Amino acid sequence: MDKFIINGGKKLSGSIEISGAKNAILPIMAATLLAKGKSILTNVPNLNDIKMMSHLLRIIGARVDYFEGTLEIDTTNCSYYEAPYEIVSKMRASVNVLGPLIARFGKAKVSLPGGCAIGTRPVDLHQKALEKLGVNINIKHGYILANCSKLKGNIINFEKSSVGATENALCAAVLAKDETNIRNAAMEPEVSGLIDFLLEMGADIQGKGTTHLKIKGVKTLQPVEMEMIPDRIEAGTFLIAGAITKSKISIEKCEPGYLQTLMGKLEETGAKFEIEDNKIKIFPAQNIIPANIETQPFPGFPTDLQAQFLALMTLADGKSFIKETIFPDRFMHVPELNRLHADIRLEKGIAEVHGVPELSGAEVMATDLRASAALVLAGLAANGQTTISRIYHIDRGYDRIEKKLQMLGAEIKRIES
Ligand code: EPU
Repeated sequence: MDKFIINGGKKLSGSIEISGAKNAILPIMAATLLAKGKSILTNVPNLNDIKMMSHLLRIIGARVDYFEGTLEIDTTNCSYYEAPYEIVSKMRASVNVLGPLIARFGKAKVSLPGGCAIGTRPVDLHQKALEKLGVNINIKHGYILANCSKLKGNIINFEKSSVGATENALCAAVLAKDETNIRNAAMEPEVSGLIDFLLEMGADIQGKGTTHLKIKGVKTLQPVEMEMIPDRIEAGTFLIAGAITKSKISIEKCEPGYLQTLMGKLEETGAKFEIEDNKIKIFPAQNIIPANIETQPFPGFPTDLQAQFLALMTLADGKSFIKETIFPDRFMHVPELNRLHADIRLEKGIAEVHGVPELSGAEVMATDLRASAALVLAGLAANGQTTISRIYHIDRGYDRIEKKLQMLGAEIKRIES
C-alpha cells in the first residue's frame, strides 16, 4: 500500500487546474447504458473510482476505453444486468446502474452496498422512488432484484434529499411512459451535470437546479459526447490548502458558482478571494478566525468538505463547532488529526475544535476519501514530517493530488509499496 510523506510548514504558491468531477462522471457513466452506441466523455480524471465503474460497465457488456482524459463507452452489446457484490462492496456509487439497467433491460440485479467508512448508507429512497415508477423490487440474498414490464411516470416525493436516489429516479423516468414529477430532488451540481447529459441524449427534463424536476418520458435516447463539469470538492480542498498553509494560490478551470458557501465560510475565517471567470485566487488570513459549520445538501456546506474544513479549524485562533448532519458518523479523521496534536472533542455528531498554535507531524492513517484529504492538508501545515498510510482512499477521488501539490511547491512524495 502506497504512503505519502509530507514535510510540512512550507508556503505554497502558483496555480493548478481542477479536474472533472468524479461524482458527476460516475452517474453519467451509468447513464450511458440508456442509449445504444458510443458516448464520449471528456475532462475525465484518472481515478480509481472511475476505473471501478469502467470495470462494472465492462461486466455489463460495454466496451470502455480511456485515453488521456477521454472516456469512450460503447454500450451497443450490453446484455448483462447485474452489478455483483465484489464491485458494489468496493464502490457504493455502483448503485447508480440500478435505474439505467431497469430502463434498458426491464430488470436489474444489484448487490446491496453494505458497510461504509462514513456511516450507514441505506438505499431505501432509491427503492421507493423506483417502485413509484412501477418497478417490483425484492431484496434477496444481499441483492436488490428489480423487474418491470413498463416504466410508468408518477409523482416521487423524496422524504429526504438524496443525490444518488434522485439520479436513479431520473435515469428511470426519462424512458418511462408519461410524466414524472420529482419533488425534494437533490440540487447538487453533479445532479445538474447528469441532467445536462440526459438532455443532450434527448431527454425531456424541466427544473434543472431546483427541487422540482418534471420529466416527460421519451421512447429512445441517443449516445452523445460531452465535457464533464469541474470537481467542486477538489477545488474546495485546494482552496483550504491555501488557507491552512497561509499561502496565496490560484485554482483554474473551476466553477466559482459551485463554491459560494465554502468561500463565504473561508471569508469568515479572514480569507479573501479574487474571482475571474473560471479562476479563483485565495488571499488567506494570517490569523485564522474560528468559524462554525453545519453540513447540508447543496447549496449548504458540503459534507465532502467537512473533514478538510475541520483540519483548517484545528489551527484557528479559538474554538469552533463542526456539525455533520448528512453522515453523522463521518468523523474518522478526528482521532488521526488529534495524533498531529490537534485538540478536537467529539460528541453526538458535533466536533468541538479547540484551535492550537501548531500541528506537529506524525504517522497517521487514511480511513476514507475526504478524511485522507484532511490529513494531507494538516500534514502540509504541520511542523516536521507526516506519513500518511493507506492512501489508496485518496486515489479514488483525487487525480494525482501529490503532483498538483508539488506544482504548488509542497514537499510531498509518494512511497510506492
Ligand atoms: N439516504 C437514505 N436512504 C437512501 C439514500 C440516502 O437514508 O436510500 C441518506 C444517506 O444516509 C444520507 C443522505 O440520505 O444521510 C444523503 O445521502 P445521498 O444519497 O445524497 O448520498 P449518495 O448519493 O450516496 C453522494 C456522493 C457522496 C456525498 C453525498 C452527499 C456520489 C458518488 N457520492 O452520495 O460523495 O457525500 O452524495 O453529498 O455522488 C465522496 O465523494 O466522498 C462522497 C461520499
